[in-house]
Amino acid sequence: MKKMIILGIETSCDETSASIVKEGKNGQCEILSNIVHSQISEHTDYGGVVPEIAARSHIQNIDKVVEKSITESGINLKDLDAIAVTSGPGLKGGLIVGVTFAKAMASVLKIPILGINHLEGHALTIRMVKNILFPYLLLLVTGGHTQLLIVKNVDDYERLGTTIDDALGEAYDKVSKSLNHGYPGGPVVERMAQKSNLNNIKFPRPLINSGDLNFSFSGLKTAVRREINKSKPLDNQMAYNICAEFQDSVIDVILSKLSLAIRLFKNKYDIQNPSVVLAGGVAANKKIFSSIKKVSEGEKFNISVAPQHLCTDNAAMIAWSGIERLRKEIKSTPIVIKPRWPLDIQNDVKSEVDIKV
Ligand code: KG4
Ligand code: ZN
Repeated sequence: MKKMIILGIETSCDETSASIVKEGKNGQCEILSNIVHSQISEHTDYGGVVPEIAARSHIQNIDKVVEKSITESGINLKDLDAIAVTSGPGLKGGLIVGVTFAKAMASVLKIPILGINHLEGHALTIRMVKNILFPYLLLLVTGGHTQLLIVKNVDDYERLGTTIDDALGEAYDKVSKSLNHGYPGGPVVERMAQKSNLNNIKFPRPLINSGDLNFSFSGLKTAVRREINKSKPLDNQMAYNICAEFQDSVIDVILSKLSLAIRLFKNKYDIQNPSVVLAGGVAANKKIFSSIKKVSEGEKFNISVAPQHLCTDNAAMIAWSGIERLRKEIKSTPIVIKPRWPLDIQNDVKSEVDIKV
């Protein structure tokens, strides 16, 4: 049987990305190309992503990025079976650019187009590289989301908890900004934390005893800012110590919530070799990963994380979601751009910020 070949397009935040993915052996895939044009240098002075700048940059780059993904893959346009494009959640300017481009291409090529939830892309990424079976427990940590989910199947997700204010990556970015460092803040704060010495700073562990699986990082970010202001002029060692205590606070909260989620998962499912999957840009943090690994393995869960270039935003994960959906013959609904779109809410549930296309 012919293996499906899909073009994926991702423009929901600050990466313009296009990728050609082909069904591979053992239910996994072959990534024939995965072009990511990062806008980081355009946003770094602002300490975060500026939606207007992001949308303009997507317009300037989408055609070149898609063309390069096709050339590099070695396929012909007529080999494409479908186009999968991120249709939410994300910045609406960027989503409009990606969806409009994908619609134009699909209509010229007369092939189907699928609107993909960006979070589904992150949730299923691990299955591109590893034979992980459903259900699994997912900790999704990005610049826009912090969620604990049960991935029951393609298109079937149960959200156990989420952040009630800032996302974890966003908190890292804001701490970095408060210390006059650039965007993205995660790698900077992680590096600085490694240089800490004896530390007597103490930050709160928000919602650690709330009994539910929700997170909150806004108060922690404020505590960091207060400590910075109190300690001015800030010497380097003090900045390192602040980063380390911020990271320790984050890890304590994550581990406590993860333990609770594991208990919940065990009560619900009696399966051999259950898995915890870590996904999203923050998964690159070595201390977060090793702490999660220790707790998960202590509970007899396998821990998996995709290679870093597939953890951060990329179009291969969007194309892969398209393949997973087509394989399961999940009916695709007409594309609606959904700037807000929780993973456990179906595509056809309307929200007031949706944009019909
Ligand atoms: O998944 P991603 O590439 O994009 C979004 O969908 O948001 O995640 C980007 C986020 C940024 O907030 C960045 O600061 C954070 O991931 N990040 C990190 C690390 N590397 C990237 N956070 C903590 N530690 C890191 N090493
Ligand atoms: Zn993302």
